[in-house]
Amino acid sequence: KKPDNHILVIFGASGDLTHRKLVPALADLHKQDLLPEKFAVLGLGRTPLTNEQFREKMSTGIQEFSSKKGDVPNGFLKRLYYYSFNTKEGAEYKGFKDYLLALDKEIGSGGNFIFYLATPPSMYPLIPRFLSEQGLSRDDKGFRRLIVEKPFGHDLASARQLNRELLNYFKEEQIYRIDHYLGKETVQNLLVTRFSNGIYEPLWNRNYIHHVEVTSTEDIGVGNRGGYYEESGALRDMVQNHLLLLTSLVAMEPPALINAESIRNEIVKVLQSLRPIPKEEVPRYVIRGQYIESEVKGQHVKGYRQEKGVDPKSRVETFVAMKFYIDNWRWAGVPFYIRTGKMLPTRVTEIVIHFQPTPHHLFADDPAIIRQQNQLVIRIQPDEGLLLKFGMKVPGAGFRVQDVNMDFHYSDLSDTYLPSAYERLLLDCMLGDPTLYSRGDAVEAAWNFIDPILQAWKEEPCIKVHGYPAGTWGPEEADELIEGDMTWRYPCKN
Ligand code: BG6
Repeated sequence: KKPDNHILVIFGASGDLTHRKLVPALADLHKQDLLPEKFAVLGLGRTPLTNEQFREKMSTGIQEFSSKKGDVPNGFLKRLYYYSFNTKEGAEYKGFKDYLLALDKEIGSGGNFIFYLATPPSMYPLIPRFLSEQGLSRDDKGFRRLIVEKPFGHDLASARQLNRELLNYFKEEQIYRIDHYLGKETVQNLLVTRFSNGIYEPLWNRNYIHHVEVTSTEDIGVGNRGGYYEESGALRDMVQNHLLLLTSLVAMEPPALINAESIRNEIVKVLQSLRPIPKEEVPRYVIRGQYIESEVKGQHVKGYRQEKGVDPKSRVETFVAMKFYIDNWRWAGVPFYIRTGKMLPTRVTEIVIHFQPTPHHLFADDPAIIRQQNQLVIRIQPDEGLLLKFGMKVPGAGFRVQDVNMDFHYSDLSDTYLPSAYERLLLDCMLGDPTLYSRGDAVEAAWNFIDPILQAWKEEPCIKVHGYPAGTWGPEEADELIEGDMTWRYPCKN
């Protein structure tokens, strides 16, 4: 089924996100004939551009970033329009509305509009207010939806405030809070892996799972996003949203139905069960690091403090490793470990379920090896797939055990096209399906867990920020988080 005719209005259309992600994803949807017949993208921004100039600019983005290779379809470029005005000025919205309604009439999109906020977050409460003043948030004359990019607040209070403000102008059902991780095919596959296979569920609890690891690393630094990152840091940038979301999908109860309410109800329950880390325990449970000037394979690499837009004395973390618990029946006593960082040895996102060791080590020469056995690795990216590690007898005399792998790679399905996260999410919003978008209460529950950590870091300047050289797995202190003689999984080594 195709979405109803509509216009997608992008605030912040001259920015990076529009050029690198949104428009390429829309072009991919066009190539697959998934867009409605009467459809337009209206880019908004302060930079004055003609439609032609905007189309040209977007065309280079499509060439570089779209997932479906091939020529940029002319039919798609013709669907792009641009209107320039100062979106900070309420008085200028009347002109914008007249333009939008005229375009709607011209193409016949039925008064249906999606407004995408791809602007700096300071604009998030303003734009909905101005839209509402023009009567553009009312959905009685066609659908009106609002997509809000991250960051959704910078702490609990600001997230609550933002939710309140948005709800003054739009209803919860009209608000689509994006977390692009939920748009990833392999993240959605977590639900299918868990809930369409009988073999995992009996084991998926504190009786059989020793601990759970969620790792998401990158081998690049902050690049030209230093200014943004100084306000954010890895905890806000990755943990509060993407990694707590992955944790929720791993830990949630089976939903009653596969629909938005059921799934989002289960997600929020996990987030509400996260055991808060008391402020005084933060140094023990949360390790933060920052990449320092170093040499990698003979190349000089800048430290975070030398990046553009970064304070030379900055204490903002580019690495976080943490340990926490989920206080519910399924997970009581099972430690969860999250690790994320920039400038680490490789780009990888994976979830590792570490199963309990056998109660008695019959073949144990080396107990450490035995305890590392039986891991289920759910690889989100790259080389998306699933890997089960288990012990096998080494042929020959005696009973030597060796770890072997049973694996599945998405790339083996040669005719399978993995759509980009934005492609999937944009299409869902067009279809009015919010399943893969975050609900307001979930965002607040995640902030509720993160807030004491941020406060501890703010109030206790003596809590260490550990320096780590680029190309390493972060500060050694992160290894000490893991109990006993266990370690993190180091994906490069496998
Ligand atoms: C973004 C963060 O939300 O996610 C970036 O702001 C990070 O700092 C990115 O690089 C990672 O996304 P992906 O899809 O490349 O794993």
